[in-house]
Amino acid sequence: MTFAALWRELEPFGRDQGTGGYRRYSWTPADAECRAWFTRQAENLGLTVEQDRNGNLWAWWGSRRSGAIVTGSHLDSVPDGGGYDGALGVVSALAAVEQLKARDFYPERAVAIAVFTEEEGARFRVACLGSRLITGAIEPASARGLRDDDGVTLAAAMTAAGRDPSLLGPDEDLLARIGAFVELHVEQGRALAPMGAAIGVAMSIWPHGRWRFDFAGRADHAGTARLADRNDPMLPYASTVLAARRLAGERGAVATFGKVIAEPGGANGVNSAVRSWLDARAADEETLAETAAAIRSAAADAAAEHGVTFEASRESYTPLVRFDEGLRDRITGVLGAAGITAPVLPTAAGHDAGFLAARVPTAMLFVRNPTGVSHSPAEHADLADCEAGVHALALVLEDLAGRP
Ligand code: GLV
Ligand code: MN
Ligand code: MN
Repeated sequence: MTFAALWRELEPFGRDQGTGGYRRYSWTPADAECRAWFTRQAENLGLTVEQDRNGNLWAWWGSRRSGAIVTGSHLDSVPDGGGYDGALGVVSALAAVEQLKARDFYPERAVAIAVFTEEEGARFRVACLGSRLITGAIEPASARGLRDDDGVTLAAAMTAAGRDPSLLGPDEDLLARIGAFVELHVEQGRALAPMGAAIGVAMSIWPHGRWRFDFAGRADHAGTARLADRNDPMLPYASTVLAARRLAGERGAVATFGKVIAEPGGANGVNSAVRSWLDARAADEETLAETAAAIRSAAADAAAEHGVTFEASRESYTPLVRFDEGLRDRITGVLGAAGITAPVLPTAAGHDAGFLAARVPTAMLFVRNPTGVSHSPAEHADLADCEAGVHALALVLEDLAGRP
């Protein structure tokens, strides 16, 4: 099937009719539909699909036990995410393998397409959970105990989906099979469009953390409680949001409160608690740590001012990633020889490639996003650029897997 035909088939799964955004959360029916679709497509291409102990899918072309060239991405989404984040890498991988098969390419090294679980951390709050587990970047016991907003643990969600969570953990046998990993991804941000380039290559990923900020006060009546008598957790929360913006801006970092839950959340009541999540990123780990500490301290001061208690905990952390320079140069060389100028870019978006990079030579290809908008139904890439991405990925796989 062509890229466009594959895209059309995957498009409806997990899409909210009202917003047009995707709600593909791990171990839900939408996730199961995506997994079943991928498995079908990979098997149609003659690949052998396996699920690893951490719930990631691997579609193998060739059975060699080491040196495999792996591509792929993820199929889960943020709440009301765009269609391209993750899915573009998976669909492009299928289309690239199809192109290689159509031209009778013989892979000297095995080629595999990986689909990683819970890359966004949208359900269980830890980003890149599947790749973190494989590489030992999270303890299996802590992963099993992660809870979604309804209190369902990852272990329970996996069991309900027919998986055995006791198997979770580092997968050295699988890692030993991988010679290189190349993830294709829609560009997040807008660097390629002004350069007139359809394809980019990743240089590094900014370090990234998520913190939970809990403010607890006292529920009260919105009409009768005198302002001076209130312990309203919404007030320190609100000033923390503004402080985060200022403190990050001063340091060239970014900080976002993208999720907030007010409890009990009545329109005519002062809340008893506000639970919120800070996402902060910076070009280096020191700046990130300093930014997060400054925001925490601003939150503690604001809470004290309003007679509210404050607690913070870090839920997810990803260190700075620098991709393998040798692999990157080889890829830009292969693309250059085919007349494709691919600028080398840093990114502030997280990726499974970041975790794989700690263990195997890893690279990323970006496909131009004309507006730069991502994690939004407005995320977009033109079909011609997606096709250019498939072409570039096929060239890279051909080069990497074509030699023993
Ligand atoms: C994932 O896309 C992230 O950067 O949070
Ligand atoms: Mn994303
Ligand atoms: Mn992604």
